[in-house]
Amino acid sequence: MHMSWKVEYSLGIAEMDAEHARMIEMMARLEAVEGRSDALQTVGKVVSELADYVETHFKHEEGLMEKAGYPNLEQHREQHRAFAQKVIDLRSRASLDARSVHQFLQQWLGDHILKVDREYVPFVQLWLDNRGAEGGLE
Ligand SMILES: [Fe+2]
Repeated sequence: MHMSWKVEYSLGIAEMDAEHARMIEMMARLEAVEGRSDALQTVGKVVSELADYVETHFKHEEGLMEKAGYPNLEQHREQHRAFAQKVIDLRSRASLDARSVHQFLQQWLGDHILKVDREYVPFVQLWLDNRGAEGGLE
């Protein structure tokens, strides 16, 4: 049974949940490839998708935090920067194993998505609610 989206991963912010679900899906692909002869190729593909993904996802998430006036944006941005740099380092490695990339993502899920991301939720939620209440003037 491969990793799949769980309700406890949800922040309740649909667009962020949809993007986080993409990372879970990449983790499932890494699980599926273990022991296969084409593993190296697939892991390389996943890591390069991951590099594109973090760039767009972090931009999107930071944009929401910024619009919501989230006070800890800079610290959050710093975590994103450090993670994106690690992904770039991974991508430049000649050989990658599925298990270690999976572990790397698992750690990010536990330390960041399930903890640090949760901290912006009330701010972003409030901003989204207010935007809705203004009848789409924004
Ligand atoms: Fe984040």
